[in-house]
Parts: sequence; structure tokens; C-alpha cells
Amino acid sequence: MLAVCMAAAFAAAHVAAGVPALVPMPREIDATGGECVLTRPPAIEVDGSVPAEGYRLSVTPDGVTIRHSDAAGLFYAKVTLRQLETRRGSEGAVCPCCEISDSPAFRWRGVHLDDVRHFFGKGTVKRILGEIAQYKFNMFHWHLTDSQAWLIDIPGYPELVNQGRGREFGEAVGPFRYTANDIREVLAYAAERHVTVVPEVEFPGHFGAALRAYPEFACPGGGKVMCIGNPDAVKFAEDVLDYVCELFPSEVIHIGGDECKREYWAKCPRCRAMMEREGMTDPGELQQWLTKRLSAHLAATGRRAIGWDEIFDGGVSLPSNTMGMCWRPADGVGAEGAGAAHGVANAGREVVMCPYSHCYFDYSQGLDEDPFDYFGRRSISLEKVYSFDPLSGVAPDARKFVVGAQCNNWSERTFALPDLEWKLWPRALALAEVLWTYPDPHRRDFARFASRAEEHRRRLLRDHVNCAGIANRKTERAAQ
Ligand code: ACM
Ligand code: ZN
Repeated sequence: MLAVCMAAAFAAAHVAAGVPALVPMPREIDATGGECVLTRPPAIEVDGSVPAEGYRLSVTPDGVTIRHSDAAGLFYAKVTLRQLETRRGSEGAVCPCCEISDSPAFRWRGVHLDDVRHFFGKGTVKRILGEIAQYKFNMFHWHLTDSQAWLIDIPGYPELVNQGRGREFGEAVGPFRYTANDIREVLAYAAERHVTVVPEVEFPGHFGAALRAYPEFACPGGGKVMCIGNPDAVKFAEDVLDYVCELFPSEVIHIGGDECKREYWAKCPRCRAMMEREGMTDPGELQQWLTKRLSAHLAATGRRAIGWDEIFDGGVSLPSNTMGMCWRPADGVGAEGAGAAHGVANAGREVVMCPYSHCYFDYSQGLDEDPFDYFGRRSISLEKVYSFDPLSGVAPDARKFVVGAQCNNWSERTFALPDLEWKLWPRALALAEVLWTYPDPHRRDFARFASRAEEHRRRLLRDHVNCAGIANRKTERAAQ
């Protein structure tokens, strides 16, 4: 039997106002009064009327019932139940009695990690996966190749993983790589937590490590881009994708595509010959050709390509299942910023938003005092993340193509677990709440969020997760 202590005031400060300190805050919550002690496991019922990833949770003196329509919903109900626990009594966990009905606003709730500029390794990756799952993120975008290193062993190309070097690697000793078994271990850990791991292998830019291993894939004269006029280089890209698909079950595979310098193609005899053959007038069309080819290669085996928003530059028509990832904000600075990002949704292709105006957690968070170093000069405060509107600037009839958003954790200036966690938390709490509750304005009250986030910071610190402070943020004070 559940013991009930109707008269007791909740012990923890976070329920003082009668609303449990849940993050993200559920869609509907009715605190029915009093405390329930969980003396036995919840009753679990499948209910087809519950939305995907959603759940209904009933915490009553007679017991706890969870209704769900899929395994993720059951998982999130249990996460909520754990968050509801105010203390451990002698008979079991003590929770406020309540009725909750909940489901996420977006199906892509992501965290990205650049594991290349600094290598974190599978222990840290699993730890981050465990943390983000507790806040109902369901996508982990794993940046595995770049100019500094190539982290994933590809059969037939043994030199790739021997190229880790550069300022960030310093004197550290490797290996900076993942074997197939390492990756399987990470994937199993993620799957238990309902997180899909989306691997990113970058083409044709950010390609320096591959070119150090296989210089024949470069245009004569160098550069860090792949020679698209070289059929062996194109075959390499397809071999890599085939192997990545063998290893990763994710339907969506990230093929990169950002910040690609085109000047080498314009000077390369092989690329120029290809342009002539294909009737191309601009070297940028070579990238469009490659993106089409790799997207079609993935689509032929039932997968979907996703690429940074540049892959849609020039109004190219890509396979209908190709997705875009928008990092250049609509109000962005720079010639290409404005409009390019939301062009993906406006072109009728599904899109994940991660504009550097709100979602780059390698940028400063505006703390009065901060022991860590950040990338660039921009600042993204906790409040700014909380104000993020993933649909901002997207034409009303294109909004249905926005499937969600993610934070990007580039690691040029992020060195190890302590600063990685510090930059992620508490800002990821704010993003989780935006992605779960959008657009419901009554749940988007920053002051109330900040007080719940304070409680979660306390819990994170108790669990040895290095969460930055909620208060004492320059940016918020300056804005007042
Ligand atoms: C990016 O930040 N270059 C995607
Ligand atoms: Zn070339």
C-alpha cells in the first residue's frame, strides 16, 4: 500500500509553490495535493490515444499509473517520476500527488558534440548521453571527422585515424579514434535511453585529416576540400557512408557541407574538366552535384542525408528526403546569413534549427565570473536560450518542415569534461524546455523557469555534473 501524508508540507523548497520543479515542464499538470509514497512499481498500460513519445502519469495515494503508446513515452514518464521525487522516505520515494499529461512539441530535440577539435572519448560521450536523456533530448549529433582528425576507423582506409594533430591535440597521446566496438558500446548505451545517435562525416570541406591520409583526394595545390573531379575521392565518400550505415542504425546520416572554400575547384584541372562535362558554370555546382550524389546514395538504401544549410545554397533541388540543419540565423551577420537558413524549410525540406544566435553553447554564457574559455566574442545567455523561437522567420506555410532544434557544442575552446558540462548546463535545461513545451506561453516564464533550473542545478551538482550558475549573469543584468 502507498502511505500518504496528506498534511505534510513538501520538504524541498522547489515545491513550495505547489508546482513540482520539473524540467521540461509538462504540457498539463494538476497537483492534486498531498504527498504519495511510492512503495511499489507503477502500473503500466499501453494506450494508443497517447501521442508519440508522450505519456500520462497518475500519482495517487492508491498507486502510480503510466499510460503510453510507445517505449520512449514510457521512458519519459519514468524520468518525470524520478524528477517528482522530493525525498526518500523509509518506505520509498516521496512525490507530490499529481496528474500529468505530456508530449513533446518537436520530434528532434538534439545535442551536438564536436569530438574532433578536442577528443572526449567514449566515457565522456556516454556520460553526456546519460545526462541529456534525463532532460528528454532524443538526438545526439556526433561530429566525428574534420580537418584536425578523423575519429572513425573505416575498413580499407587504415591511415584515416592516424591523422589526429593540431593545436588542440598538443602533446596529448592518442589514439584519438573509435573502433567499431567502441561505437557499438555508445550506441547500445544511447538506445537504452531513447537517444538516436546521428553520426556526422564531413564532405567536401573540413576534410583536412582525410587529405593528410590520402593526398590524392585533394585538388592539386592543396586546400582542405575534397577534389570532386576525382572519381576515387567520390568513391571514398560513398565507401565511408556505406560503412557508417552498417554501424549506425540512425535513419538520418549527417554529411556536413558547411564552409566549403571553392577556390581550389576553380583552379583544379580535374574539377574544371568535370564542370565542362556536366555543363556547370560555377564551382559551387560541384558541391551541389556531390550533395545530390551522396543524398541519393543514402536514399537508395532507405537512409536520409542531413547537411548544414549551405547544401541548399543556389536553390539546388535535392532528393525530397534530404534534410537541412540551419546554423546561420535569419538575422545573422554576413552576406549569406540572412534568409539562407530558413530557405531549407521554405524549399519544403525538413529542417533542424541550430542558429548560432541562440544554439552555439561554445559561446560565452555571460557569467560575472567564469573560469572557462569560450569561442569567439558572441554571448548566449541562459535567458537568450530560453527565448529561442525555432520557428522565427520561417514562413507560416513552411513551419511544418521544422522538426526541431539542437545545441551545438563545438570544441575548439572546450578541452575536457568539466568545461563541456559547464557550457552545456544549465543552458541545455532551457533548450529542453523550449523544445518540449513550445509554443505554450504560460510555460515560458523565465523567472519561474530559473527557479526550477536552480533546483536542477543543485541536483546536477549533487550528481557531480559541472553546472554553471543560474544567477549572476552579466547579459541579463545589462538587459534590465
Ligand atoms: C558551422 O558552425 N560551421 C556549422
Ligand atoms: Zn579538384
